[in-house]
Amino acid sequence: MSEQLKPRKVSESHTVMTEMVMPNDTNPMGNLMGGNLLRWMDIASGICAGKHCEAHVVTASVDHVSFQKPIKLGDVITLEATVTRAFRTSVEIHVEVFANDIKGGNPRRCNHAYYTFVGMDDNGNPEPVPPVLPLTEIEQQRFDSASKRREMRLILSGRMKPEDATEFRALFLEREP
Ligand SMILES: CC(C)(COP(=O)(O)OP(=O)(O)OC[C@H]1O[C@@H](n2cnc3c(N)ncnc32)[C@H](O)[C@@H]1OP(=O)(O)O)[C@@H](O)C(=O)NCCC(=O)NCCS
Repeated sequence: MSEQLKPRKVSESHTVMTEMVMPNDTNPMGNLMGGNLLRWMDIASGICAGKHCEAHVVTASVDHVSFQKPIKLGDVITLEATVTRAFRTSVEIHVEVFANDIKGGNPRRCNHAYYTFVGMDDNGNPEPVPPVLPLTEIEQQRFDSASKRREMRLILSGRMKPEDATEFRALFLEREP
């Protein structure tokens, strides 16, 4: 059980990755292709998950991602990945994407997403992962809200019945007079 593993701080697995957008990464309009960005987000968050779990990890799901601001050829992007919460064999990772031009101008936050990874043992089976120890206010907020996001993605993937989503049900019941 994950409770028997030593909790690990968020800072212990914090991962920063930098890339430059090259011609082969772009669409005909000169913007970074969404699929390439998703790949880099997957790599950065997978490194973070692997560091937290001290194990091989596989991507189980990616939550909603919007591409609000175009990233142009020659831009430098920085991806920052942090673990938010561990469950039994899975961890949720928050990844944020920032961009600026090569001279550091036009800095902007482009998007973010939550990835779920599963820790795998040497036989390729899911294994328990260490709990997360949130220390800052934002770490605590992301930790607290993670169980609602987990219920949402398990419902959407058909792994949980909506009536079993206790956190979501509580949200709606709280609003009733
Ligand atoms: C992810 C995977 C290991 C889950 O295997 P499984 O036999 O369903 O194992 P379990 O039922 O024990 O689930 C393991 C964990 O995965 C989580 N999980 C499985 N599917 C999930 C999904 N769609 N979204 C979020 N979490 C998911 C479960 O909730 C569980 O987490 P928990 O122990 O913290 O509660 C398996 O589906 C797999 O290998 N998928 C392919 C992964 C891969 O190759 N990814 C790269 C992209 S192709």
